Amino acid sequence: MDNDGAAAQIRQMSETKRILIGITGASGAVFGLRLLEMLDAAADVETHLVISKAGRLTLSAELDRDAAALEALADVVHLAGNVGAPVSSGSFRLDAMIVAPCSVKTASNVAYGNTGDLITRAADVMLKERRTLVLAVRETPLHAGHLETLTKLAGLGAVIFPPVPAFYQKPQAIQEIVDHTCMRLLDQAGVHLDAAPRWGEAGGVKAIGDG
Ligand SMILES: Cc1cc2nc3c(=O)[nH]c(=O)nc-3n(C[C@H](O)[C@H](O)[C@H](O)COP(=O)(O)O)c2cc1C
Repeated sequence: MDNDGAAAQIRQMSETKRILIGITGASGAVFGLRLLEMLDAAADVETHLVISKAGRLTLSAELDRDAAALEALADVVHLAGNVGAPVSSGSFRLDAMIVAPCSVKTASNVAYGNTGDLITRAADVMLKERRTLVLAVRETPLHAGHLETLTKLAGLGAVIFPPVPAFYQKPQAIQEIVDHTCMRLLDQAGVHLDAAPRWGEAGGVKAIGDG
């Protein structure tokens, strides 16, 4: 085969960003839902979704929507038990993974390489490939074991992002708090949407001391 033929066989990878959303059984299924809604409206993003077994339980307890409604917002849905799905391999190009909400169980499994389901396997792949892994860990209060787990994860390169609300944008409704948190989560994944007021940005919250 000549050089031109060889070059033609090398496929150009798409510019579309691929983001994997994992939803686990921590409280806060609404964060997973809102991330999917925002990504659905975003241009040039292919969204993959995995919901854990416990995640299905909590979302039916917390939202007036079932898992199917969330899955309809994603481009590709993977079963949590399918550790052979594309996102389980480092050769599948993924730009970022956000686990929101992320349970302590999933966080500790990722910290210690227990990759028995697709969410933990895909998260482990993100770490070994040095890609962006954002964990919206939700538990309170935290004992020393939780803190050790989170410290270990931060050392491995994960972004530890507890969904702690900000109040400088003076939210009037829960949805505004959720939107602000989800916008900040997506910022971490390199998807920048003006979904909530940003500090010091035009149309956002006026920064202090800017005149
Ligand atoms: C209504 C409800 C709320 C829960 N909230 C939390 C939570 O905020 N954080 C947490 O770590 N686990 C929470 N759990 C427990 C997890 O669902 C449980 O540990 C589960 O095994 C997590 O599995 P997963 O990480 O595979 O989804 C909650 C469970 C239920 C039923």
